[in-house]
Amino acid sequence: AQRKTDPARDEKDQQLERYRTDSSGPLTTETGVRVEDTDNSLKAGERGPTILEDFHLREKITHFDHERIPERVVHARGSGAYGYFQPYESMSRYTCADFLSDPSQRTPVFVRFSTVAGFRGSADTVRDVRGFATKFYTRHGNFDLVGNNIPVFFIQDGIKFPDFVHAVKPEPHNEIPQAQSAHDNLWDFVGLQPETTHMMMWVMSDRALPRSYRMMQGFGVHTFRFVNADGVGTFVKFHWKPKLGTHSLVWDETQKIAGKDPDYNRRDLWEAIEKGDYPEFELGVQIVPESDEFAFDFDLLDATKIIPEERVPVTPIGKMVLNRNPDNFFAETEQVAFCTGNIVPGIDFTNDPLLQARNFSYLDTQLIRLGGPNFQQIPVNRPLAEVSNNQRDGYNQRRVHRGRTNYFPNSLGGGCPYISDDTEGLFRHYQERVDGHKIRKRSDSFQDHYSQATLFYNSLADWEREHMIAAFQFELNKCDEKSVRERVVANLNNVDHEMAVRIAKGIGVTPPEREVKPNHGASSPALSQANTAMDTI
Ligand code: HEM
Repeated sequence: AQRKTDPARDEKDQQLERYRTDSSGPLTTETGVRVEDTDNSLKAGERGPTILEDFHLREKITHFDHERIPERVVHARGSGAYGYFQPYESMSRYTCADFLSDPSQRTPVFVRFSTVAGFRGSADTVRDVRGFATKFYTRHGNFDLVGNNIPVFFIQDGIKFPDFVHAVKPEPHNEIPQAQSAHDNLWDFVGLQPETTHMMMWVMSDRALPRSYRMMQGFGVHTFRFVNADGVGTFVKFHWKPKLGTHSLVWDETQKIAGKDPDYNRRDLWEAIEKGDYPEFELGVQIVPESDEFAFDFDLLDATKIIPEERVPVTPIGKMVLNRNPDNFFAETEQVAFCTGNIVPGIDFTNDPLLQARNFSYLDTQLIRLGGPNFQQIPVNRPLAEVSNNQRDGYNQRRVHRGRTNYFPNSLGGGCPYISDDTEGLFRHYQERVDGHKIRKRSDSFQDHYSQATLFYNSLADWEREHMIAAFQFELNKCDEKSVRERVVANLNNVDHEMAVRIAKGIGVTPPEREVKPNHGASSPALSQANTAMDTI
């Protein structure tokens, strides 16, 4: 049945209404010619050959032949929903972002939840990170908060992302195994790249087995920047907290569910929204004044680190309600294009080298995935803010630009955009002072790979530790190369000796003999706090 739409519900819904079609009229070709018969091709005689002249046959089959587009290179499997975001109070002290300025204003959103490693048709309940990407259709343009359900990441610099994803995905010669964590290549990469340790602890925890997309936290991961109307910047980390609380499945359940209902999380989200049981998430921020940039024993630009909430509490600033399922999976959930580079006035980047690479990567991949430079015109991606520029033509151009001129400056005018003196909604890049030598080097402040992994381990309840150790044993037992298993255990010995010994015993590796003082990196100021944490074990 056609899904009901209330055009009064929100502006995005009204915009989409212009593109919806129910295809309920008499059958026609794409050129609008009515078709007499779609069961029998045109033949020369009842039992004769099919005739090339049959334009309906050719069009029907050609269109079918071209139905597939490339799946996302990562996060291929996902589920989406529309809704709205509403702030609790004005955040204008920190940011001039319009959608955070007025508690009576609701901003339409589209959210896509995803797994990372699997293919488009893979099971939902695998051990994996979950994507949590939100597009805010603000009055001043689209803002995309492209986060995950885990607050840190595997690598510190985006230049390692292709290596990391190659190692996570099935091996290139035989495309086995599909399960990301049970994987020689992955563990080989992990053992050789100790910066993955903190994230791997989270991935081996029950956080990687969410019970429902409605019961997951979300994190922007990077340190971003708020910028207020006076141009003053403040560091900010974004957090989503689910109203239903954060819940996980246990490993055994995930295995059974994957067999019985591979669409488990997708179905749960869809059905909850259809029933009117709308998922809600609270947006929170950790705010750090610029003067405190170096006040921490880790680097704010290092995406493998959290800012502990004891140091900087999370302040709730608004809520998001997901209240409408998409009409068409392909048109909306598959064609939605998120990018960390999509920011609006009041929000800006930091120099986090992972974030900088992401800003390039998403747009680049979407140019091929969505067929050229006009994918922002796809209905789900269209901003509510007005679009006016001199960009023209290209594959899948849907606009009919009028006027004689398409360049700036021009004096002949007519239907041409211009630079306005009006500052309403104007994006101005944050004026950060940057200066340095061109070098390929990672800051020494990024060198501590273990102390936050230890803090995470110490924060777990006994049963959570048991689950994590069992997970490491299960996954590493699938790893054929003993040297790979040994290297991972040696890394884990820097996190917690007893944990490393137990994992080693479960995977046929000689347990490490002694506790190793973590290699926190000689010049890292993280040393003192991390050592305190380790000493109290
Ligand atoms: C897709 C999150 C790191 C490249 C995604 C998606 C999410 C996400 C949620 C799915 C978006 C959707 O639902 O359509 C993250 C987070 C990261 C991270 C939280 C680290 C903090 C990276 C890095 C790169 C990258 C370092 C590359 C340098 C991609 C690409 C896609 C993707 C190419 C597919 C986009 C598309 O086809 O539309 N990521 N990612 N990601 N990510 Fe990331």
